[in-house]
Amino acid sequence: MKKESTLNEWINNRFPLTKMFREHASEYYAPKNFNIWYYFGSLALFVLINQIVTGIWLAMSYKPSAQEAFHSVEYIMRDVNFGWLLRYLHSTGASAFFIVVYLHMFRALLYGSYKKPRELLWVVGMFIYLCLMAEAFFGYLLPWGQMSFWGAKVITSLFEAIPFVGTTLVEWLRGDFTVSDVTLNRFYAMHIVLMPILLLGLVVVHILALHEVGSNNPDGNDIKKIKGPDGKPLDGIAFHPYYTVKDLVGLVVFLIVFLGIVFFWPDMGGYFLEAPNFIPANPMVTPEHIAPVWYMTPFYAILRAIPSKLGGVMCMAGAIAILFVLPWLDRNPVRSIRYRGWQYKLALTLFTISFITLGYLGLMPPSPVRMIAAQVCSVVYFSFFIFMPIYTTLEVKKQVPDRVTG
Ligand code: HEM
Repeated sequence: MKKESTLNEWINNRFPLTKMFREHASEYYAPKNFNIWYYFGSLALFVLINQIVTGIWLAMSYKPSAQEAFHSVEYIMRDVNFGWLLRYLHSTGASAFFIVVYLHMFRALLYGSYKKPRELLWVVGMFIYLCLMAEAFFGYLLPWGQMSFWGAKVITSLFEAIPFVGTTLVEWLRGDFTVSDVTLNRFYAMHIVLMPILLLGLVVVHILALHEVGSNNPDGNDIKKIKGPDGKPLDGIAFHPYYTVKDLVGLVVFLIVFLGIVFFWPDMGGYFLEAPNFIPANPMVTPEHIAPVWYMTPFYAILRAIPSKLGGVMCMAGAIAILFVLPWLDRNPVRSIRYRGWQYKLALTLFTISFITLGYLGLMPPSPVRMIAAQVCSVVYFSFFIFMPIYTTLEVKKQVPDRVTG
Protein backbone atom coordinates (compact mmCIF):
# COMPACT_ATOMS: atom_id res chain seq x y z
CA MET A 1 0.00 0.00 0.00
CA LYS A 2 1.10 3.54 -0.80
CA LYS A 3 1.78 6.09 1.91
CA GLU A 4 -1.44 7.81 3.02
CA SER A 5 -1.03 11.51 3.61
CA THR A 6 -4.47 12.80 2.61
CA LEU A 7 -8.04 11.58 2.87
CA ASN A 8 -8.04 11.29 -0.93
CA GLU A 9 -5.14 8.86 -0.84
CA TRP A 10 -6.67 6.95 2.03
CA ILE A 11 -9.83 6.43 -0.02
CA ASN A 12 -7.96 5.72 -3.27
CA ASN A 13 -6.00 2.93 -1.60
CA ARG A 14 -9.33 1.28 -0.81
CA PHE A 15 -11.68 2.42 -3.60
CA PRO A 16 -10.93 3.62 -7.17
CA LEU A 17 -12.42 7.10 -6.64
CA THR A 18 -9.90 9.18 -8.61
CA LYS A 19 -9.59 6.46 -11.24
CA MET A 20 -13.37 6.51 -11.78
CA PHE A 21 -13.50 10.30 -11.87
CA ARG A 22 -10.78 10.32 -14.54
CA GLU A 23 -12.35 7.55 -16.60
CA HIS A 24 -15.84 9.03 -16.58
CA ALA A 25 -15.23 12.78 -16.34
CA SER A 26 -11.84 14.48 -16.49
CA GLU A 27 -10.36 12.06 -19.03
CA TYR A 28 -13.54 11.07 -20.83
CA TYR A 29 -13.14 12.73 -24.21
CA ALA A 30 -16.44 13.78 -25.74
CA PRO A 31 -16.76 15.22 -29.26
CA LYS A 32 -16.33 19.01 -29.21
CA ASN A 33 -19.34 19.66 -31.47
CA PHE A 34 -22.20 18.72 -29.14
CA ASN A 35 -25.22 20.92 -29.87
CA ILE A 36 -28.48 21.72 -28.09
CA TRP A 37 -29.77 18.14 -28.55
CA TYR A 38 -27.03 16.89 -26.25
CA TYR A 39 -28.41 18.67 -23.19
CA PHE A 40 -31.26 16.24 -22.69
CA GLY A 41 -29.19 13.33 -21.32
CA SER A 42 -27.90 15.34 -18.38
CA LEU A 43 -31.33 16.96 -17.96
CA ALA A 44 -32.91 13.48 -17.77
CA LEU A 45 -30.46 12.68 -14.99
CA PHE A 46 -31.39 15.88 -13.19
CA VAL A 47 -35.14 15.19 -13.47
CA LEU A 48 -34.61 11.63 -12.23
CA ILE A 49 -32.91 12.99 -9.11
CA ASN A 50 -35.69 15.58 -8.69
CA GLN A 51 -38.31 12.82 -8.82
CA ILE A 52 -36.48 10.69 -6.27
CA VAL A 53 -35.84 13.53 -3.82
CA THR A 54 -39.33 15.06 -3.99
CA GLY A 55 -40.82 11.54 -3.98
CA ILE A 56 -39.08 10.66 -0.72
CA TRP A 57 -40.50 13.78 0.94
CA LEU A 58 -43.99 13.20 -0.47
CA ALA A 59 -43.90 9.63 0.86
CA MET A 60 -43.36 11.04 4.36
CA SER A 61 -46.90 12.47 4.39
CA TYR A 62 -48.76 10.33 1.85
CA LYS A 63 -51.04 7.47 3.01
CA PRO A 64 -51.34 4.55 0.58
CA SER A 65 -54.87 3.46 1.44
CA ALA A 66 -58.12 3.88 -0.46
CA GLN A 67 -59.63 5.57 2.59
CA GLU A 68 -56.87 8.11 3.12
CA ALA A 69 -54.87 8.57 -0.10
CA PHE A 70 -56.89 11.40 -1.67
CA HIS A 71 -57.12 13.35 1.59
CA SER A 72 -53.45 12.83 2.40
CA VAL A 73 -52.61 14.49 -0.93
CA GLU A 74 -54.90 17.42 -0.03
CA TYR A 75 -53.19 17.52 3.36
CA ILE A 76 -49.79 17.71 1.63
CA MET A 77 -51.10 20.56 -0.56
CA ARG A 78 -52.62 22.61 2.26
CA ASP A 79 -51.00 21.76 5.60
CA VAL A 80 -47.52 20.35 5.05
CA ASN A 81 -44.92 23.12 4.90
CA PHE A 82 -44.06 23.58 1.23
CA GLY A 83 -46.03 20.41 0.51
CA TRP A 84 -47.63 22.09 -2.51
CA LEU A 85 -44.16 22.77 -3.88
CA LEU A 86 -43.04 19.18 -3.36
CA ARG A 87 -46.13 17.87 -5.12
CA TYR A 88 -45.94 20.26 -8.05
CA LEU A 89 -42.19 19.63 -8.48
CA HIS A 90 -43.03 15.91 -8.63
CA SER A 91 -46.10 16.12 -10.89
CA THR A 92 -44.52 18.66 -13.26
CA GLY A 93 -41.32 16.59 -13.03
CA ALA A 94 -43.18 13.56 -14.41
CA SER A 95 -44.21 15.42 -17.56
CA ALA A 96 -40.81 17.12 -17.82
CA PHE A 97 -39.17 13.69 -17.64
CA PHE A 98 -41.08 12.51 -20.70
CA ILE A 99 -40.49 15.75 -22.63
CA VAL A 100 -36.77 15.48 -21.96
CA VAL A 101 -36.62 11.75 -22.73
CA TYR A 102 -38.62 12.09 -25.96
CA LEU A 103 -36.23 14.82 -27.14
CA HIS A 104 -33.29 12.67 -26.03
CA MET A 105 -34.60 9.75 -28.11
CA PHE A 106 -35.33 12.01 -31.07
CA ARG A 107 -31.71 13.16 -31.00
CA ALA A 108 -30.68 9.50 -31.34
CA LEU A 109 -32.94 9.26 -34.43
CA LEU A 110 -31.42 12.43 -35.90
CA TYR A 111 -27.81 11.40 -35.49
CA GLY A 112 -28.09 7.61 -35.71
CA SER A 113 -26.82 7.18 -32.16
CA TYR A 114 -28.50 3.76 -31.98
CA LYS A 115 -26.26 2.32 -34.69
CA LYS A 116 -23.19 0.16 -34.26
CA PRO A 117 -21.44 0.22 -31.78
CA ARG A 118 -24.19 1.80 -29.67
CA GLU A 119 -26.96 -0.80 -30.15
CA LEU A 120 -26.84 -1.99 -26.55
CA LEU A 121 -26.87 1.59 -25.29
CA TRP A 122 -30.10 2.09 -27.26
CA VAL A 123 -31.64 -1.17 -25.99
CA VAL A 124 -30.82 -0.21 -22.40
CA GLY A 125 -32.40 3.18 -23.14
CA MET A 126 -35.54 1.41 -24.31
CA PHE A 127 -35.69 -0.58 -21.06
CA ILE A 128 -35.38 2.74 -19.22
CA TYR A 129 -38.27 4.08 -21.29
CA LEU A 130 -40.42 1.03 -20.45
CA CYS A 131 -39.65 1.39 -16.74
CA LEU A 132 -40.42 5.08 -16.94
CA MET A 133 -43.87 4.38 -18.38
CA ALA A 134 -44.52 1.74 -15.71
CA GLU A 135 -43.30 4.15 -13.02
CA ALA A 136 -45.63 6.91 -14.28
CA PHE A 137 -48.56 4.49 -14.54
CA PHE A 138 -48.12 3.21 -10.97
CA GLY A 139 -47.63 6.74 -9.64
CA TYR A 140 -50.78 8.02 -11.30
CA LEU A 141 -52.98 5.74 -9.18
CA LEU A 142 -51.61 7.14 -5.93
CA PRO A 143 -53.65 10.41 -5.64
CA TRP A 144 -56.73 8.14 -5.84
CA GLY A 145 -58.70 10.64 -7.92
CA GLN A 146 -61.29 9.77 -10.55
CA MET A 147 -58.75 9.57 -13.37
CA SER A 148 -56.32 7.57 -11.20
CA PHE A 149 -58.96 4.96 -10.52
CA TRP A 150 -60.53 4.74 -13.98
CA GLY A 151 -57.21 5.01 -15.80
CA ALA A 152 -55.82 2.08 -13.80
CA LYS A 153 -59.02 0.15 -14.36
CA VAL A 154 -58.97 0.64 -18.15
CA ILE A 155 -55.29 -0.16 -18.52
CA THR A 156 -55.29 -3.23 -16.26
CA SER A 157 -58.42 -4.51 -18.00
CA LEU A 158 -56.48 -4.53 -21.29
CA PHE A 159 -54.85 -7.75 -20.11
CA GLU A 160 -58.31 -9.36 -20.24
CA ALA A 161 -57.85 -9.46 -24.00
CA ILE A 162 -55.20 -12.18 -23.60
CA PRO A 163 -56.90 -15.48 -24.48
CA PHE A 164 -57.51 -18.10 -21.73
CA VAL A 165 -55.52 -16.49 -18.91
CA GLY A 166 -56.69 -12.87 -19.34
CA THR A 167 -59.26 -12.63 -16.53
CA THR A 168 -57.10 -14.52 -14.03
CA LEU A 169 -54.12 -12.36 -14.97
CA VAL A 170 -56.05 -9.12 -14.39
CA GLU A 171 -57.20 -10.32 -10.95
CA TRP A 172 -53.64 -11.29 -10.13
CA LEU A 173 -52.34 -7.86 -11.21
CA ARG A 174 -55.00 -5.97 -9.26
CA GLY A 175 -54.94 -8.35 -6.31
CA ASP A 176 -58.74 -8.05 -6.26
CA PHE A 177 -61.79 -8.30 -8.50
CA THR A 178 -61.55 -4.60 -9.22
CA VAL A 179 -59.03 -1.79 -8.66
CA SER A 180 -59.09 -1.46 -4.89
CA ASP A 181 -57.15 -0.65 -1.75
CA VAL A 182 -55.04 -3.78 -2.40
CA THR A 183 -54.15 -2.50 -5.87
CA LEU A 184 -53.23 0.90 -4.47
CA ASN A 185 -50.92 -0.70 -1.92
CA ARG A 186 -49.04 -2.78 -4.45
CA PHE A 187 -48.79 0.07 -6.97
CA TYR A 188 -47.31 2.18 -4.17
CA ALA A 189 -44.68 -0.50 -3.48
CA MET A 190 -43.84 -0.66 -7.20
CA HIS A 191 -43.76 3.12 -7.52
CA ILE A 192 -41.51 3.88 -4.59
CA VAL A 193 -39.29 0.78 -4.39
CA LEU A 194 -39.06 -1.53 -7.40
CA MET A 195 -39.25 0.93 -10.29
CA PRO A 196 -36.84 3.54 -8.86
CA ILE A 197 -34.29 0.80 -8.15
CA LEU A 198 -34.63 -0.55 -11.69
CA LEU A 199 -34.44 2.95 -13.17
CA LEU A 200 -31.33 3.91 -11.23
CA GLY A 201 -29.62 0.59 -12.05
CA LEU A 202 -30.46 0.92 -15.74
CA VAL A 203 -29.23 4.52 -15.89
CA VAL A 204 -25.86 3.41 -14.45
CA VAL A 205 -25.66 0.63 -17.09
CA HIS A 206 -26.70 3.18 -19.77
CA ILE A 207 -23.86 5.54 -18.91
CA LEU A 208 -21.30 2.74 -18.54
CA ALA A 209 -22.33 1.43 -21.97
CA LEU A 210 -21.99 4.94 -23.42
CA HIS A 211 -18.54 5.44 -21.94
CA GLU A 212 -17.38 2.04 -23.19
CA VAL A 213 -17.98 2.98 -26.84
CA GLY A 214 -17.80 6.78 -26.57
CA SER A 215 -20.37 9.43 -27.48
CA ASN A 216 -21.69 9.90 -30.99
CA ASN A 217 -21.93 13.48 -32.31
CA PRO A 218 -24.01 15.55 -34.78
CA ASP A 219 -21.69 14.52 -37.63
CA GLY A 220 -21.96 10.85 -36.71
CA ASN A 221 -18.25 10.17 -37.30
CA ASP A 222 -15.86 8.40 -34.95
CA ILE A 223 -13.59 10.87 -33.13
CA LYS A 224 -11.44 8.04 -31.75
CA LYS A 225 -10.03 7.38 -35.24
CA ILE A 226 -7.96 10.56 -35.33
CA LYS A 227 -5.74 11.06 -32.31
CA GLY A 228 -3.02 13.60 -31.52
CA PRO A 229 0.55 12.71 -30.43
CA ASP A 230 -0.71 12.60 -26.82
CA GLY A 231 -3.14 9.79 -27.74
CA LYS A 232 -6.21 11.97 -27.18
CA PRO A 233 -8.83 12.38 -29.92
CA LEU A 234 -8.15 15.62 -31.81
CA ASP A 235 -11.89 16.40 -31.92
CA GLY A 236 -12.49 15.48 -28.29
CA ILE A 237 -12.61 17.63 -25.18
CA ALA A 238 -12.58 16.47 -21.57
CA PHE A 239 -16.11 16.00 -20.26
CA HIS A 240 -15.03 17.75 -17.08
CA PRO A 241 -14.74 20.73 -16.93
CA TYR A 242 -15.97 21.59 -20.45
CA TYR A 243 -19.28 19.73 -20.61
CA THR A 244 -20.04 19.87 -16.91
CA VAL A 245 -20.01 23.67 -17.26
CA LYS A 246 -21.93 23.62 -20.55
CA ASP A 247 -24.56 21.25 -19.10
CA LEU A 248 -25.01 23.68 -16.19
CA VAL A 249 -26.01 26.39 -18.68
CA GLY A 250 -28.61 23.99 -20.12
CA LEU A 251 -29.80 23.22 -16.61
CA VAL A 252 -30.33 26.91 -15.80
CA VAL A 253 -32.41 27.43 -18.94
CA PHE A 254 -34.38 24.26 -18.19
CA LEU A 255 -34.99 25.38 -14.59
CA ILE A 256 -36.33 28.76 -15.71
CA VAL A 257 -38.98 27.05 -17.84
CA PHE A 258 -39.62 24.20 -15.41
CA LEU A 259 -40.03 26.40 -12.35
CA GLY A 260 -42.13 28.85 -14.36
CA ILE A 261 -44.59 25.99 -14.91
CA VAL A 262 -44.32 24.72 -11.32
CA PHE A 263 -45.12 28.15 -9.88
CA PHE A 264 -47.54 29.59 -12.40
CA TRP A 265 -49.22 26.79 -14.36
CA PRO A 266 -48.72 23.44 -12.61
CA ASP A 267 -51.76 21.73 -14.13
CA MET A 268 -50.81 22.99 -17.63
CA GLY A 269 -54.46 23.49 -18.47
CA GLY A 270 -55.30 19.89 -17.60
CA TYR A 271 -52.41 18.27 -19.50
CA PHE A 272 -50.05 17.73 -16.56
CA LEU A 273 -52.76 17.31 -13.90
CA GLU A 274 -56.16 16.31 -15.25
CA ALA A 275 -59.29 18.00 -13.89
CA PRO A 276 -61.19 14.79 -12.94
CA ASN A 277 -58.30 13.85 -10.69
CA PHE A 278 -59.25 16.61 -8.26
CA ILE A 279 -62.40 14.56 -7.48
CA PRO A 280 -61.97 11.54 -5.14
CA ALA A 281 -62.11 8.11 -6.84
CA ASN A 282 -65.64 6.83 -7.14
CA PRO A 283 -66.12 3.29 -8.50
CA MET A 284 -69.81 4.05 -9.11
CA VAL A 285 -69.32 7.07 -11.40
CA THR A 286 -67.36 6.77 -14.66
CA PRO A 287 -65.79 10.04 -15.90
CA GLU A 288 -67.20 11.25 -19.21
CA HIS A 289 -63.92 10.85 -21.04
CA ILE A 290 -61.05 8.65 -19.83
CA ALA A 291 -57.62 9.42 -21.26
CA PRO A 292 -54.13 8.80 -19.94
CA VAL A 293 -51.67 11.66 -19.38
CA TRP A 294 -50.30 13.14 -22.63
CA TYR A 295 -47.05 11.12 -22.67
CA MET A 296 -48.94 7.82 -23.08
CA THR A 297 -51.56 9.05 -25.54
CA PRO A 298 -49.75 8.18 -28.82
CA PHE A 299 -49.89 4.53 -27.81
CA TYR A 300 -53.42 4.88 -26.43
CA ALA A 301 -54.52 6.26 -29.81
CA ILE A 302 -53.01 3.20 -31.55
CA LEU A 303 -54.92 0.97 -29.11
CA ARG A 304 -58.20 2.71 -29.88
CA ALA A 305 -57.57 2.78 -33.63
CA ILE A 306 -57.95 -1.01 -33.88
CA PRO A 307 -61.55 -2.19 -33.50
CA SER A 308 -60.67 -5.53 -31.86
CA LYS A 309 -59.46 -5.36 -28.26
CA LEU A 310 -56.78 -8.03 -28.65
CA GLY A 311 -55.63 -6.50 -31.94
CA GLY A 312 -55.43 -3.07 -30.30
CA VAL A 313 -53.41 -4.37 -27.37
CA MET A 314 -51.04 -6.20 -29.72
CA CYS A 315 -50.54 -3.12 -31.91
CA MET A 316 -49.96 -0.93 -28.88
CA ALA A 317 -47.38 -3.35 -27.47
CA GLY A 318 -45.88 -3.75 -30.94
CA ALA A 319 -45.52 0.02 -31.33
CA ILE A 320 -43.18 0.05 -28.33
CA ALA A 321 -41.52 -3.32 -28.99
CA ILE A 322 -40.49 -2.37 -32.53
CA LEU A 323 -38.38 0.49 -31.19
CA PHE A 324 -36.11 -2.08 -29.51
CA VAL A 325 -34.98 -3.52 -32.84
CA LEU A 326 -34.43 -0.16 -34.53
CA PRO A 327 -30.61 -0.61 -34.71
CA TRP A 328 -31.11 -3.71 -36.86
CA LEU A 329 -33.75 -2.23 -39.14
CA ASP A 330 -31.64 0.70 -40.31
CA ARG A 331 -29.26 -0.64 -42.96
CA ASN A 332 -27.51 2.62 -43.81
CA PRO A 333 -24.07 2.74 -42.12
CA VAL A 334 -24.14 6.57 -42.23
CA ARG A 335 -25.31 7.78 -38.85
CA SER A 336 -26.07 11.48 -38.99
CA ILE A 337 -29.08 12.83 -40.85
CA ARG A 338 -26.71 15.48 -42.23
CA TYR A 339 -25.19 12.95 -44.61
CA ARG A 340 -28.21 10.74 -45.32
CA GLY A 341 -30.47 10.66 -48.37
CA TRP A 342 -33.93 12.16 -48.70
CA GLN A 343 -35.60 8.83 -47.91
CA TYR A 344 -34.72 8.82 -44.22
CA LYS A 345 -35.35 12.55 -43.88
CA LEU A 346 -38.84 12.13 -45.29
CA ALA A 347 -39.54 8.99 -43.28
CA LEU A 348 -38.44 10.62 -40.02
CA THR A 349 -40.56 13.71 -40.73
CA LEU A 350 -43.67 11.61 -41.43
CA PHE A 351 -42.98 9.44 -38.38
CA THR A 352 -42.66 12.50 -36.13
CA ILE A 353 -45.86 14.06 -37.48
CA SER A 354 -47.76 10.78 -37.02
CA PHE A 355 -46.46 10.35 -33.46
CA ILE A 356 -47.49 13.88 -32.43
CA THR A 357 -50.87 13.54 -34.17
CA LEU A 358 -51.47 10.22 -32.41
CA GLY A 359 -50.64 11.94 -29.12
CA TYR A 360 -53.27 14.58 -29.87
CA LEU A 361 -55.87 12.04 -30.99
CA GLY A 362 -55.32 9.96 -27.85
CA LEU A 363 -56.20 12.99 -25.73
CA MET A 364 -59.46 13.65 -27.55
CA PRO A 365 -62.75 11.79 -27.13
CA PRO A 366 -63.20 9.22 -29.92
CA SER A 367 -65.16 10.10 -33.09
CA PRO A 368 -65.41 8.39 -36.51
CA VAL A 369 -63.12 10.97 -38.17
CA ARG A 370 -60.55 10.75 -35.38
CA MET A 371 -60.64 6.97 -35.62
CA ILE A 372 -59.72 7.09 -39.31
CA ALA A 373 -57.01 9.69 -38.62
CA ALA A 374 -55.59 7.42 -35.89
CA GLN A 375 -55.61 4.47 -38.28
CA VAL A 376 -53.74 6.45 -40.95
CA CYS A 377 -51.19 7.66 -38.39
CA SER A 378 -50.73 4.13 -37.02
CA VAL A 379 -49.98 2.89 -40.53
CA VAL A 380 -47.42 5.69 -40.99
CA TYR A 381 -45.92 4.92 -37.56
CA PHE A 382 -45.40 1.23 -38.34
CA SER A 383 -44.33 1.89 -41.94
CA PHE A 384 -41.38 3.93 -40.66
CA PHE A 385 -40.00 0.74 -39.11
CA ILE A 386 -41.30 -1.99 -41.40
CA PHE A 387 -40.00 -0.42 -44.61
CA MET A 388 -36.81 0.86 -43.01
CA PRO A 389 -34.61 -2.03 -44.23
CA ILE A 390 -35.72 -1.17 -47.77
CA TYR A 391 -35.53 2.63 -47.91
CA THR A 392 -32.31 2.80 -45.90
CA THR A 393 -30.67 0.42 -48.39
CA LEU A 394 -31.76 2.60 -51.31
CA GLU A 395 -30.47 5.83 -49.77
CA VAL A 396 -27.76 7.73 -51.62
CA LYS A 397 -25.46 8.98 -48.92
CA LYS A 398 -23.08 11.90 -48.83
CA GLN A 399 -19.41 11.62 -47.85
CA VAL A 400 -19.06 11.78 -44.05
CA PRO A 401 -16.13 14.07 -43.08
CA ASP A 402 -13.32 12.53 -41.01
CA ARG A 403 -13.21 15.51 -38.67
CA VAL A 404 -16.21 17.07 -36.89
CA THR A 405 -17.57 20.17 -38.60
CA GLY A 406 -18.41 22.27 -35.55
C1 HEM B 1 -33.78 8.22 -17.21
C2 HEM B 1 -33.63 8.35 -18.50
C3 HEM B 1 -32.31 8.56 -19.19
C4 HEM B 1 -31.18 9.13 -18.72
C5 HEM B 1 -30.93 9.72 -17.32
C6 HEM B 1 -30.21 9.11 -19.79
C7 HEM B 1 -28.93 9.63 -19.69
C8 HEM B 1 -28.06 9.76 -20.74
C9 HEM B 1 -26.85 10.54 -20.71
C10 HEM B 1 -26.34 11.34 -19.50
C11 HEM B 1 -26.27 10.43 -21.94
C12 HEM B 1 -24.99 11.14 -22.40
C13 HEM B 1 -25.32 12.57 -22.77
C14 HEM B 1 -26.09 12.69 -24.05
O1 HEM B 1 -25.67 12.08 -25.05
O2 HEM B 1 -27.15 13.36 -24.07
C15 HEM B 1 -27.09 9.56 -22.75
C16 HEM B 1 -26.83 9.18 -24.07
C17 HEM B 1 -27.65 8.38 -24.84
N1 HEM B 1 -28.91 7.91 -24.49
FE1 HEM B 1 -29.83 8.19 -22.71
N2 HEM B 1 -30.76 8.52 -20.89
C18 HEM B 1 -32.06 8.17 -20.57
C19 HEM B 1 -32.97 7.57 -21.41
C20 HEM B 1 -32.71 7.13 -22.71
C21 HEM B 1 -33.67 6.49 -23.58
C22 HEM B 1 -35.11 6.22 -23.20
C23 HEM B 1 -33.00 6.22 -24.75
C24 HEM B 1 -33.51 5.54 -26.01
C25 HEM B 1 -34.32 4.57 -26.05
C26 HEM B 1 -31.65 6.68 -24.63
C27 HEM B 1 -30.66 6.58 -25.60
C28 HEM B 1 -29.42 7.19 -25.55
C29 HEM B 1 -28.43 7.16 -26.62
C30 HEM B 1 -28.57 6.44 -27.98
C31 HEM B 1 -27.33 7.91 -26.18
C32 HEM B 1 -26.03 8.19 -26.96
C33 HEM B 1 -26.20 9.48 -27.68
C34 HEM B 1 -25.02 9.92 -28.48
O3 HEM B 1 -23.88 9.61 -28.11
O4 HEM B 1 -25.28 10.59 -29.53
N3 HEM B 1 -31.50 7.24 -23.38
N4 HEM B 1 -28.19 9.17 -22.00
